[in-house]
Amino acid sequence: MELSSFPRIFFHGPSGKGRGSRGSLMIVWLKIIHILAVSIWMAGLVSLPGLYVQRAHVADRDALYRLQRMVRFSYVVFVSPAAFVAVASGIGLIFARETFTSWMSAKLVLVGVLVVIHTLTGLVIIRLFEEGQVYPVWRFIGATAFALVMIVGVLYFVLAKPDFEFADLLPAALSEPGALRPIADSINPWASP
Ligand code: HEM
Repeated sequence: MELSSFPRIFFHGPSGKGRGSRGSLMIVWLKIIHILAVSIWMAGLVSLPGLYVQRAHVADRDALYRLQRMVRFSYVVFVSPAAFVAVASGIGLIFARETFTSWMSAKLVLVGVLVVIHTLTGLVIIRLFEEGQVYPVWRFIGATAFALVMIVGVLYFVLAKPDFEFADLLPAALSEPGALRPIADSINPWASP
């Protein structure tokens, strides 16, 4: 397939890695796989809490069983494998594109939170279908909103690729050698002469 037929989004970014048509083609395919997997994973994290709420409205045991099957099937067959592929293709992209940058580190912190949400989702599914359990609406709103904020954050870092240093976010004194003494002196009421 001609490389020029792919949209420019698959190549833009600060890295010059992947030059040569074979490297570029691999990056294109990794990105396609990554974006597809990420879309399924994120769709699952955002929509599953909407299914949990239905637990409170099931009419009989048959309906409860159908809901349980649907939720488990989505999590086990679609969402979890998509998460695995998203992480694996993302790690491949880090090395293929050499994105050893601050925005990527910030993105990975937020992705780490999404992984925790994913794991908690699995625990909720195990408990939700036990006798007498429900998933309250406030929790559905909270979980969905929190996941959405994380997703928007990840998309911001990966699309805007902001140029910053983590050290710039801390007081300058913390990265200066010997700065502890002036800091201590400024707050010490018994400063030594
Ligand atoms: C461990 C998990 C992940 C890793 C290691 C990872 C890593 C990467 C890397 C290295 C790139 C290529 C960046 C570039 O070419 O400039 C990329 C692209 C992308 N990632 Fe991820 N990613 C992960 C998870 C996610 C998640 C959870 C989302 C969405 C919420 C996401 C959304 C995207 C998008 C939209 C792109 C395309 C950006 C572009 O080409 O401009 N990624 N990812």
